[in-house]
Amino acid sequence: MGKLKYSIAFVLLLGHFSTHAQEDQLKSDAKMQWFQDAKLGIFIHWGLYAVNGIDESWSFFNGYISHQDYLKQTEGFTASGYDSNQWADLIRKSGARYSVITAKHHDGFALWDTKDGTFNAAKSSTAKKDVLSPFIKSLRKKGLKVGIYYSLPDWSFNDYTHFTRDSMRYKASEQPKRWNRFLKYYQGQLNELAKLYNPDLYWFDGDWEHSAEEWQATKVRSMLLEANPNTIINSRLKGHGDYATPEQGMPITRPKDAYWELCMTMNNSWGYQHNDLDYKTPDQIIGIFADVISNGGNLLLDIGPKADGTIPQKQVQILETLGKWTSKHQEAIYGTRAGIPKEHFYGPTTLSKDGNILYVFVKGNPNGEIVVRGLKNKINRIWVVGNGTKLSHKVVGKVYWSHYPGITYIDLPDKVLDENMTVLALLLDGKVDLYREDGSVIESN
Ligand code: GLC
Repeated sequence: MGKLKYSIAFVLLLGHFSTHAQEDQLKSDAKMQWFQDAKLGIFIHWGLYAVNGIDESWSFFNGYISHQDYLKQTEGFTASGYDSNQWADLIRKSGARYSVITAKHHDGFALWDTKDGTFNAAKSSTAKKDVLSPFIKSLRKKGLKVGIYYSLPDWSFNDYTHFTRDSMRYKASEQPKRWNRFLKYYQGQLNELAKLYNPDLYWFDGDWEHSAEEWQATKVRSMLLEANPNTIINSRLKGHGDYATPEQGMPITRPKDAYWELCMTMNNSWGYQHNDLDYKTPDQIIGIFADVISNGGNLLLDIGPKADGTIPQKQVQILETLGKWTSKHQEAIYGTRAGIPKEHFYGPTTLSKDGNILYVFVKGNPNGEIVVRGLKNKINRIWVVGNGTKLSHKVVGKVYWSHYPGITYIDLPDKVLDENMTVLALLLDGKVDLYREDGSVIESN
C-alpha cells in the first residue's frame, strides 16, 4: 500500500515537472513567434574598420595592421552623411522585419555614448555623437524589431585577456581580480543597452575565447531576461541562447534546431571594404533566401555602411531588388513554415502555418511543366503568387488499386514567370499529406 502511495506521488510529481517543461516550451514558442515569422533581417557591421576598408577588428588581431594604426581610423569615422531614417526606410523596403547592428565589435569601439569607457563614437571619433540611438528610434518608428550585436571580447580594453593573436594580456584564471573588473565592465554595458534600448534581440559574438563559467553566461542570460522576459538571445552566449546561428554557409540539410538564422555577407566582407566588389547577384541572394526559409530558418543579410554613414550604392541596389521580390511574394514568405522534403519537389518550398497551402519556388524558366511528387492531397486551386493567374495541373501515374498518389504536373506558361524567382501557391484539400513510401510497397501489396 505504502509503495502505491509513493508511486502515485511520483507520478504526480512527474506530471508536475512535465507540465512545467511544457509551459516553458509554450512560453519560449510564444516568445520566438515574431522571429520565426519574420524570415528576413538585415545585419549591419558599422565601425572604425569602414574608414580604411579593412577586416572588422580581425585586421589588427591578426596583425595586418598595428593596433595603433587601427585606432587612427577614429579620425576618419565622421558619420557626416548618416541618416538613420534612410537606413530604416531601406531596411523596411527590403522586406526585412528586423535589423541587428554592431553596437560594439571585438575592437571595443562602441557606437553609443557608453558610460562604461570612452572608446566610442561620441567621445573618441570625429563623428562626436552617439550614432546608435537615432537608428534604434528609426527602426521602432518603422515597426522593425531591434537587434543589438554585442561582442563579448573587447580586444582594446586593458582588463580584457586577449589583445592580438600572438599577445595575450593575462589569463583569467591567474588574475581573477582583473578578470572581474572586465566582467563588471561588460555586464555594465549590457545593462546600459538593456535600459537604453530594451532590445528585442541580443546577438552575441566571440564566446569562443572563454568558458560559459568565465563569461558568467547563466547570470547574463537571466539578467537580460529579467529586464525583458521576451527578449531573444542568439546561440553565441556559450550555449545560453534561443536559436542557432550558422555563419556564411547555407545549411545543406535541414538544421535540427527549432529556430535558426543564417548570417551572410553580400560580398566577402562584413564591414565596408571599398576593394571588395565580389557581390552575390540578387538572383543568388533570392535563391539562398528561398533555401533558408524552405528549411525553416531566417536570413540575416549583412550590409556595411561607409564611415560617413552612407550605404554603398551596390548594397542599396541589392536591397531594393530583394524588396521588390519579397513584397510581391509576401504570402509565401512571412509567417510560413519549412516546406516539404526535396524528394517531392526539387526546389525550395514553404507551407502556410495551417499546412493547407504549399508554396513552390521555381527558379528561371523551367520551359514546361513543374513536377510535384507523391502528394496525397487533392489540389483545389493553383495560382501564381503576386500575379494571380490560375494554373491547371494533371495527376499522372495514379492507379486505382494503390494508395500511391501519382505525380502532379503543373503547366507553367512563360507569361507568368517572375524575373528572379516565380512562386506558385497550391491550395490543398486539407493539411499537406505526403506519400513517403518506396515503390516496392506497391508490388508487395
Ligand atoms: C564572426 C566574426 C565577426 C563577425 C561575425 C558575424 O564571428 O568574428 O567578425 O562579425 O562572425 O557573424
